[in-house]
Amino acid sequence: MTDTESAPLRSIDRLREIAGTAARAANAHNTQPWELRFRADHVEVGWRARYALGPSDPAHRDLRLSLGTYVETLLICAAEAGIPVRYEPDFDADAARVGRIRPDAWPAASPRSVADVEGRRVWRGAWSRERIPARVLDRARRTAAEAGFRVAVVTTHAARPLLVRAYHWFFGDAGIAAELLAWARLTPRHPEYRRDGLNDVMLVLSRAEALAMRLFFAPAVYRLLRPLGLVRLLTALSSGATAGDGVVLVVLGSRTDAAGEVEAGRLVTRLWLDLFQDGIYVHPQSHVIDCPGTVDDLARLCAAEDGERPLVFFRAGFPAVDPAARPRHPRRENGEHVSG
Ligand SMILES: Cc1cc2nc3c(=O)[nH]c(=O)nc-3n(C[C@H](O)[C@H](O)[C@H](O)COP(=O)(O)O)c2cc1C
Repeated sequence: MTDTESAPLRSIDRLREIAGTAARAANAHNTQPWELRFRADHVEVGWRARYALGPSDPAHRDLRLSLGTYVETLLICAAEAGIPVRYEPDFDADAARVGRIRPDAWPAASPRSVADVEGRRVWRGAWSRERIPARVLDRARRTAAEAGFRVAVVTTHAARPLLVRAYHWFFGDAGIAAELLAWARLTPRHPEYRRDGLNDVMLVLSRAEALAMRLFFAPAVYRLLRPLGLVRLLTALSSGATAGDGVVLVVLGSRTDAAGEVEAGRLVTRLWLDLFQDGIYVHPQSHVIDCPGTVDDLARLCAAEDGERPLVFFRAGFPAVDPAARPRHPRRENGEHVSG
């Protein structure tokens, strides 16, 4: 094989080098559902069914969004490593595939960097009063429009009642509670603590709160306390994401197909990394969209047009303390994301 013949194959093979960094992509419950399948002349991006959420992601929208965040993050890492590849969407639910990465002539450039990918993380702690500058919100609106979506900016004040109702629905569902507990790693002694899931540090729980969560979500205790006000208590403890005077950004789209949701995930990565470059962090809240009792009100709040629906909801703002002082959510090592 000559050098020119082998170059495209080398660029595909080099994706193994960046797969671990690309796995820093945001993803629901930190399940890291993606999988790279190396084929002769391309790499398939797919997912492993065992990492798809059940009751907490009833429409599998978060799964497809998470796969989109992964594709976009992989492309950003490839661009910086000078790996000439392009993404070709080809969603197939039966094959558990969202698309393929193929060799390309030249590496693409990206305004987002690996440093952004590695530094970004969600923030679930307290928010400062500093406002997001109008130019940043305008840029987010433009970025969304370029991708065929829309970003609506709503005040935390207007979003708060929806979030409270959604949390009430979320914590009142035994299946969702069980799944949250299954993905929670509430003590460093948990065998998967350094691999995946939601740990006590990133949930910003004190030791006592982590202990209380382990206790309250245990099925027998949950069943016993649910009718006695447990749901209200959990809701009150968790609705801080819209506390204070700030904004929530909602991504809306009129494409209702699965491939459109993957594209929305790609957009979300661009939005979150751009915000991160300005020191702005996000806290996504999927249940406001999943909850049958709030999604239509959210659409109205965003002045959704016919056929347009909310896809992603997140509080954005400046954290009250530096999130970088806390460890990041862990990821499973590189080999776990790759097959073939
Ligand atoms: C599609 C999607 C939905 C998410 N939904 C929620 C959510 O409802 N609540 C929450 O606290 N975090 C949510 N997250 C954040 C993830 O839990 C987080 O990205 C993951 O745990 C990895 O942590 P990191 O982003 O800090 O690396 C969501 C992320 C994505 C991509």
